[in-house]
Amino acid sequence: MNLTVTFKRSGRTVAWTEAESLLAFAEHNGVDAPFSCGAGVCGTCAAALLAGDVTYVEDPLYLPDPGVVLLCCTTPKTSVVLDL
Ligand code: FES
Repeated sequence: MNLTVTFKRSGRTVAWTEAESLLAFAEHNGVDAPFSCGAGVCGTCAAALLAGDVTYVEDPLYLPDPGVVLLCCTTPKTSVVLDL
């Protein structure tokens, strides 16, 4: 299945290639995404998910509000649009 990741504010849509997380994928593609712990603890990497769905590959300390995802511990389940 070919998934895409759209970074809406950056105006970029990129084909998803295996990466540790959406945070790592954003960094690889030169999209600035704030983060701190990288492990689902601090919430700094929270970003609005405007479309699509994600999978949590690591259990975060807490789940963010609906419509928000923690980039450091998720990968796309479907094509996604992020507010980044
Ligand atoms: S960077 Fe801390 S929760 Fe993602």
